[in-house]
Order: sequence, then C-alpha cells, then structure tokens
Amino acid sequence: MLCLGIESTAHTFGIGIVDEKGNILSNEKDVYKPKVGGIHPKECTEHHLNVANDVLKKSLETAKINLNDIDIISFSQGPGIPGVLRIGAVFSRALALKLKKPLFGVNHCIAHIEIGKLLTHSIDPVTLYVSGGNTQVIAFTEGKYRIFGETQDIGIGNALDKLARELGFEHPGGPKIEEYAKSGNYINFSYVVKGMDLSFSGILTEAKKKIKNHSINDICYSFQETCFAMLTEVTERAVAHTDKNEVLLTGGVAANKRLQEMLSIMCKERGAKFYVVPQEFAGDNGAMIAWTGMLMYKYNPHGMKIYETKINRFWRTDEVDIPWIS
Ligand code: ATP
Ligand code: FE2
Repeated sequence: MLCLGIESTAHTFGIGIVDEKGNILSNEKDVYKPKVGGIHPKECTEHHLNVANDVLKKSLETAKINLNDIDIISFSQGPGIPGVLRIGAVFSRALALKLKKPLFGVNHCIAHIEIGKLLTHSIDPVTLYVSGGNTQVIAFTEGKYRIFGETQDIGIGNALDKLARELGFEHPGGPKIEEYAKSGNYINFSYVVKGMDLSFSGILTEAKKKIKNHSINDICYSFQETCFAMLTEVTERAVAHTDKNEVLLTGGVAANKRLQEMLSIMCKERGAKFYVVPQEFAGDNGAMIAWTGMLMYKYNPHGMKIYETKINRFWRTDEVDIPWIS
C-alpha cells in the first residue's frame, strides 16, 4: 500500500510517499521564498501552482514508482492560507479522480504530531508543536488530541521571523536568531504565561524597542531564553497534569537546539523521555501528510466524498476524531 501526501498550507509545497509500515519512500518539496517581508498569499499560490508538477515528478522518481502504483491520496485540508490550501486540495482531487483512488483531507497540525511519533517511536507523548503559525501543547485524551495550552496571538516561529526581519535577516529568521543567540547576555523581557496559554506579541514589541540600545546577540539570546522558558513551563505543566511520560517536540521551530536542550533538561528532571522529530521532517513536508492519510485509510478505506474535502482554514487540532489511537 502506498499513500501520496500533498502539503500546501503555507510556504511549502511538498509531496511525500509512504507505505503502510511507515517507510518513507520520498519527501520532495519546493519552498516559496518571499522577496521582501513575510508570505505574500498571491505570490505563494502562484509559486505552488508553478512547482506542483515538478515536485510530483521528483517525488515519484525518488520513490522509484509510477503514478499508477499509488493506492491512496491525501492532502493538507487546513489550517492554513486559503488560496494556498486550495492548490493542494484541487491538485489532490484531480489526482484521486484520475487514478480512482480514495482521498483524505488531513489536519496539518495532527500530521506534525503523527510524523513525530512515527519517526521517534514515541507512543503517547505530550507534544509541543511549534511552527510559524502555530504554538500548541497537545496530548491525546478521550478520542482526541486536546490542546492543553496555546498561543493567544502569534506563533513562536512567526515571532522569531518578525524579530529577524526587524534585525535585517532574511526569511525564515529562526535559524539566524539561533546563530546570534549563541553568545549573548541576558536582558530582561516580560514573561507572559497566562494559565496554560502563552503570548509572544508583547515580547516581540519589547524586543523591537530594545534593538536601539542592545547588541543583536543580547536581543536574540534573551528573546529565545524568555520565549523558550515559557514554552518549557507550559509543556511541563501539561506533563504533570496528564501524567504522561513522554514529550515530543515537533514543527519547524523544533530544529532549534536551545529549545531542545531546555525541554530535555525538564524531561530529565521529571523522569520523562524526550523526543525530537528529525530535522528533515520538522518543517512542513508531504511525508507527514502521506503518513496521516495512511492512518486515516485504515479506518475508512473508501476515503472522503469530494464534497467533504473543502478546505478548512481554521481547522483546530481538537476538532478531529482520531480513530487510529485506541
Ligand atoms: P505551520 O503551518 O505548522 O504553522 P509553518 O508554515 O510555520 O507551519 P514550518 O516549516 O513548520 O512552517 O515552520 C517554519 C518556522 O520554523 C519558521 O518560523 C522558522 O523561522 C522556524 N525555524 C526553522 N528553523 C529554526 C531554528 N533553528 N530555530 C528557530 N526557529 C526555526
Ligand atoms: Fe507546519
């Protein structure tokens, strides 16, 4: 059994192919890079339209298969940027109809969790999902992935990217900030945890104001230390509350070594196991959509009706039924 998964929620157009055991045969992508500023929805849509066929071709070549060998098609149905989501949706509907194969709309956030579980062999973790658009602390209870804490405004990746832009770095700025944060001194920032939720926009404003009077290293270091400590605190409380003994870090910001370090220290102190999704699969990718499509297929071999595959731009993690976890 082979599932072909299409990722198209934001900057990445990706196509991955996986088998029923979770072997990843290919994971090809083409990432839209804005000339200035953040993602420009129209340009990004155009980009995905232009690269879709090539990414498909490459993905099939890498997997050493033909289109006819595919048994299942899946795509990221939401959350994401509407115009961009539509490219993936239309492309995958066309493929499913042409090949007469079952089609599945996948929740992008859940795909980040499932690929993390697959590749780290974690079973029932508290997941810290940190990306550009999303920041959520998630754990499975009673049939659904429940959100225990989340950002009340922007995602941590978005905050890093916005600060980076202010500092003159190109998009995405997270890796550059990580570089500069290696040798800074701590300057004070507000620490904003409200109950189990987080907020980054105020700290971002503060950081922008401090740029005049502090070194880039100090800003990057202190911004990371503050925001990552907040993330670690909320994750720790979710672990305590759910009594789970695994923590999984996933999403684009999972690539950050300092965030990994803070979480791993917290886990060690609590006697929990700490897992990080491998870097290739941390950011948006088609393989995670393919694997989640495969999990869905096992409980619904006929797939979704075309009218059920409308994009869902605000689709929340905790709205999705998860029949594949007992
Ligand atoms: P989502 O749709 O899930 O919100 P996304 O569109 O933001 O995802 P991802 O590829 O999951 O895409 O994440 C991209 C984010 O990861 C960017 O904000 C980028 O700056 C951040 N990032 C990448 N590498 C690092 C790093 N080393 N340190 C911090 N942030 C990083
Ligand atoms: Fe993502």
